[in-house]
Amino acid sequence: MNSFQRTLVTTALPYANGPVHIGHLAGVYVPADIYVRYLRLKGENVLFVGGSDEHGVPVTIRARKEGITTQEVVDRYHNIIKDSFEGFGISFDVYSRTTSKIHHQLASDFFRKLYDDGKFVEQTSEQFYDPETQEFLTDRNIRGECPRCHAAGAYGDQCEKCGATLSPDELINPYNAINGNPLTKKETKHWYLPLDQYQQWLEEWILQEHKEWRPNVYGQCKSWLDGGLRPRAVTRDLDWGIPVPVEGAEGKVLYVWFDAPIGYISNTKELCDAKPEQFGSWETWWKDPSTRLIHFIGKDNIVFHCIVFPTMLKAEGSYIVPDNVPSNEFLNLEGDKISTSRNWAVWLNEYLVDFPSKQDVLRYVLTANAPETKDNDFTWADFQARNNNELVAIYGNFVNRALVLTKKYFDGKVPAAGTFNEYDQATIAEFQNVKAEVEKLLGDFRFRDAQKEAMNLARIGNKYLADTEPWKVAKTDMERTATILHLALQIAANLSIAFEPFLPFSSAKLREMLNLQLSTANCQLSTLTWEELGNINLLKEGQELGEVSLLFEKIEDATIQAQLDRLANIKAANEESEKQEALKNWRPADIKENTNIDEFGKMDIRVATVLDCQPVKKSDRLLQFRLDDGMGGRTILSGIAQSYPDPSVLVGKQVLFIANFPPRKMMGIESQGMILSAVDADGKLVVTTVTAPVRNGSQVG
Ligand code: 2FM
Ligand code: ZN
Repeated sequence: MNSFQRTLVTTALPYANGPVHIGHLAGVYVPADIYVRYLRLKGENVLFVGGSDEHGVPVTIRARKEGITTQEVVDRYHNIIKDSFEGFGISFDVYSRTTSKIHHQLASDFFRKLYDDGKFVEQTSEQFYDPETQEFLTDRNIRGECPRCHAAGAYGDQCEKCGATLSPDELINPYNAINGNPLTKKETKHWYLPLDQYQQWLEEWILQEHKEWRPNVYGQCKSWLDGGLRPRAVTRDLDWGIPVPVEGAEGKVLYVWFDAPIGYISNTKELCDAKPEQFGSWETWWKDPSTRLIHFIGKDNIVFHCIVFPTMLKAEGSYIVPDNVPSNEFLNLEGDKISTSRNWAVWLNEYLVDFPSKQDVLRYVLTANAPETKDNDFTWADFQARNNNELVAIYGNFVNRALVLTKKYFDGKVPAAGTFNEYDQATIAEFQNVKAEVEKLLGDFRFRDAQKEAMNLARIGNKYLADTEPWKVAKTDMERTATILHLALQIAANLSIAFEPFLPFSSAKLREMLNLQLSTANCQLSTLTWEELGNINLLKEGQELGEVSLLFEKIEDATIQAQLDRLANIKAANEESEKQEALKNWRPADIKENTNIDEFGKMDIRVATVLDCQPVKKSDRLLQFRLDDGMGGRTILSGIAQSYPDPSVLVGKQVLFIANFPPRKMMGIESQGMILSAVDADGKLVVTTVTAPVRNGSQVG
């Protein structure tokens, strides 16, 4: 059993290609911040490291889209992201960036050390290449039709529409995302990290020694390991990034996933070098085995943090490897995958403007609904309900009653307690038991349940006031009223500790109202410690309370509706631009295999006039045609309703149909053939016709 002396907590470095959103906050930063605040409250030695990931293709794509330089993109978003995290009280000790000088040097040296030690293998392979611009394309810069869902414009690494992980070779008709050029393949040399050589070590280290990792993390590692690891390229042909520090590697940079995790080390170094007296040496944090390293990440980062980065650290030889990698699943938004490129997100910088002073509400909702074991959905209705029914109705209500009653009956001073009766004692005991439970859950990275337990503490307080009814007791017994309110205020003071990791802004506000302790301006640290949780002598008798205001406010329907309207507009704009993308890149499908006149002759294609055309009830796909086919008439069902919102436009038109398909029942109606339609680039179906009137029943051939 290792006895650790310090904990180094890192959070995935978000790409500086856009602002951060609720998915980031829920998946990584709020849980990490809860954990760090908890450890600090316990007086542990902890360092919290974050930063922006400023290399890689996503930032270069954004630069092209916005018509500015890549450096301008990363400068803009690094600052927006940093401000958002500050705004939400994510209490980093350092938040730096991978374009920093220190990082470039450290990442370059790290590569060079592995290179000099012969840890890489060099390999030449064929990569997608644009002959016109004479550049190799990275996965993200290649687009094409998704082989799974057939959406247009899927990326070479992923389809944003269906979420499938892809490789560029799988795309149908791949093209250069920037200029639409068709691609060829060309040979290029790269350096590979031979993960296969570390397979056995990884199996022992993860599968044997870290069975306690979350099942989603352990399971993903196991499946990578079971599949057999292969060498991974750690360099790329790209002009944005850290140059490969090897002769003959001009035009090549370190792969973003090689340099980004080294950013954790560089950022630690930047902080420690600047303030050694406060934080010590960066090497103690990264090389001393008595440091416990914890990476907070999202599930798409698991392989890099559990397999690739540890292999890099192991290959280098002087570093520790992570003790745990708590990874969350994904958070969706109103049923759809959150996506930066499709603007389907609640952006943190916008939230801070739309909901001033309500950072804790979002922190609370995202933790209550954290995707710890499976993907979860954020909905504005749930946000409103949790605020109004939990924060306002339980926690806020309890605190407000305790304070307002004290103002009313005791002139705003903490009243002296008489003897606690049995019910009071039971309440205190119950309160103290919950504390142990919260601790256990936080230690196991189960933040969602831990917050639920903290909320139970507020429930205990709320119930205590509801049961003891001091507003009634005050009519007859002021001594008992004093005891009740004394205990209620002590419970409120305790809640400010219990909620400090989860809702730091509210804890600070509560402490101000109780005049207990003015916390620092950015809600970072209080001098209260976790150990004092359960202490019912936090407030001195006679102590004057501060100004009373509402801890949480009700959120009205109109506020929620405004957010829903915004999302509806985005959805409509996305559908339109997807349609445009499909139209822009449309090419006729390949000609089918040869056939002959005999095969064609088996099809009996005829002309008929549409007498009537109606949508089929309870189907959003089918239209029911009544046709004059020159042979007594027939009914045909056709799945084209989406393309004809007003089917009456077809009445009176002559159409082509296949007359010799066997009849088929759909939605209880018999369909006697098939109407022929052409499919347009955007998927729209258009019914075919003849260029001059002919007799109904005429054959087409
Ligand atoms: O997935 C991402 O957003 C990456 N930028 C995370 C990098 S984490 C670390 F390695 F820096
Ligand atoms: Zn797809």
